[in-house]
Amino acid sequence: MKTSNNTILITGGSAGIGFETAKAFLEKGNEVIITGRDAKRLEQAATQLPGVHTLVSDVSSEAAVDELVQTIRTKFPRLNVLINNAGYAALHSLTVGQETWKEAEKEMDTNYISVVRLTEKLLPVLHQQPAAAVVNVSSIVAYAPGLKTPTYSASKAALNSYSKILRLSLQDTNIKVFELMPPLVNTDFSAGIGGANGIAPEVVAADLVNCMEQDVYNIHTGNTAAIYELLKVSPTAALNALNGITA
Ligand SMILES: NC(=O)c1ccc[n+]([C@@H]2O[C@H](COP(=O)([O-])OP(=O)(O)OC[C@H]3O[C@@H](n4cnc5c(N)ncnc54)[C@H](OP(=O)(O)O)[C@@H]3O)[C@@H](O)[C@H]2O)c1
Repeated sequence: MKTSNNTILITGGSAGIGFETAKAFLEKGNEVIITGRDAKRLEQAATQLPGVHTLVSDVSSEAAVDELVQTIRTKFPRLNVLINNAGYAALHSLTVGQETWKEAEKEMDTNYISVVRLTEKLLPVLHQQPAAAVVNVSSIVAYAPGLKTPTYSASKAALNSYSKILRLSLQDTNIKVFELMPPLVNTDFSAGIGGANGIAPEVVAADLVNCMEQDVYNIHTGNTAAIYELLKVSPTAALNALNGITA
């Protein structure tokens, strides 16, 4: 997949991994559109991303997504790359009554259902291009769920499953499907789970660009690669390693 001269939509591009991905693709000569819920945050991001286009849009709102898709059709008809990056996570424990299903519902909605919806609604636009791609940002926890983010992990496992079958469904088309699976990354998102110890979002963005260039569809950034190798040998060992449990 070429990584220049594309028109790229990144959901959740005003901060963290999405922001750094927008920066990396702008530097390579792509047209980049970023979304987010907070207009001010988007404006601020735009001051640091010369040439970027911003659209206020919440991936979890069907009405907002319909408006977004309409704007893409009219203003950016050459859109050929969709990066489903926006995500939501709750920190909670399954051992005490915290009505975790309420957060689980939000996580499934943002991290899974919203991706299925936006992707389906943009497929007709992507099909019109000579070469296109969908990138789903899942997580290392899709392979080995985390004790502090149990229901979030399950939503990313759903996204992992969907990404695999989307790739197979589209294999005879012009659309390639990538899945970016970061480990702990130092962003606002991960502040509550020791994100400061994570890798930099710039590293994740650089890895994504390199892997897209080489058509590496499962992108195992940082120590996701090691967890994946361990998973193949022993799922229990991978689960323990992810959670810092020594057997
Ligand atoms: N950080 C990690 O350790 C880590 C590890 C593995 C995977 N991931 C995944 O990587 C992705 C990006 O995470 P991040 O760490 O970069 O997060 P972040 O720094 O918190 O940035 C999230 C971005 O998404 C936007 N956003 C959030 N909810 C949205 C919604 N409903 N609709 C549209 N935009 C929304 C935010 O802007 P607004 O708040 O203004 O909407 C912001 O621009 C997520 O899918 C996350 O699950 C993160």
